[in-house]
Amino acid sequence: METAKKQEAVYTEPSDSAIGAFRAGTTNSGEIVISGLGKVYASKKSRFEALADIDLRIGSNEFVTIVGPSGCGKSTLLRIVAGLDELTDGSVTLDGDEVVGPGAERGMVFQGYTLFPWLTVRENIEYGPKLKGISTLERRTISNHFLKVIKLEKFASAYPKQLSGGMKQRVAIARALANRPKVLLMDEPFGALDAQTKLEMQEMLLEVWEKEKTTVLFITHDIEEAIFLSQRIVVMGANPGRILKTFHVKLPAQRTPEVREMPAFLALRRELGQLLKH
Ligand SMILES: Nc1ncnc2c1ncn2[C@@H]1O[C@H](COP(=O)(O)OP(=O)(O)OP(=O)(O)O)[C@@H](O)[C@H]1O
Ligand SMILES: [Mg+2]
Repeated sequence: METAKKQEAVYTEPSDSAIGAFRAGTTNSGEIVISGLGKVYASKKSRFEALADIDLRIGSNEFVTIVGPSGCGKSTLLRIVAGLDELTDGSVTLDGDEVVGPGAERGMVFQGYTLFPWLTVRENIEYGPKLKGISTLERRTISNHFLKVIKLEKFASAYPKQLSGGMKQRVAIARALANRPKVLLMDEPFGALDAQTKLEMQEMLLEVWEKEKTTVLFITHDIEEAIFLSQRIVVMGANPGRILKTFHVKLPAQRTPEVREMPAFLALRRELGQLLKH
């Protein structure tokens, strides 16, 4: 429930521009600029530097993935961009505006299924638009659109417990997208799925990303997933959490399954594997 509550907070802030963009079907911007970001967790007894000197610009409609060892601060960084956690140094801006809290223009998808169990698939998708006061008729248009995008039209009236893990995660993505966010923040969204479902979800996500024109900041432990999805991969190191290296993924824009066999894919996989081993 903890997570559901936080997710809820993301949806409560009204964003007329997001609704307007949905109506007009216009392209979102969604440039994130992280400058000199630092995060210290401090209590009376201890002080822990979780993140230091993070500088990262994620362009409008770019797909950037963060990889790094457990505990290096990936989730902390994403939560700060989401406005769910506070930075202690530096700044984060979205299209020039400083991030000071959660907002509907930044949608979050976590590893767990943060669906409301008492709502149907359609109601889960319509939840954000409903909070914004969008009319029943228009909400229906929005949910129909996203049910189609995630290919779950037949499950509109089902409850989350009636769905498989992959299906639940598709609904979680649709729910985030229904707010027409400029940015999709995804923390190991496919981490709990079996290998086959994971591949299907990756392809679906790329389709959605192309169609919806959102900026995506994605966290994963899976190097192949990072290469397949991203335009750019950021490798973080620990103690303190910082950026070690950034890779531009030089693969065709159209990521067909064959891409996974390409020499550039295999070479990058090797390089990332070695970097993450140390
Ligand atoms: N509320 C908190 N108070 C103190 N320390 C925290 C808090 N939240 C996170 N940390 C510490 O910050 C560091 C980074 O945590 P974070 O969850 O961001 O790592 P991560 O890279 O996402 O790891 P994983 O890959 O395991 O998910 C960890 O050492 C963690 O113990
Ligand atoms: Mg994490």
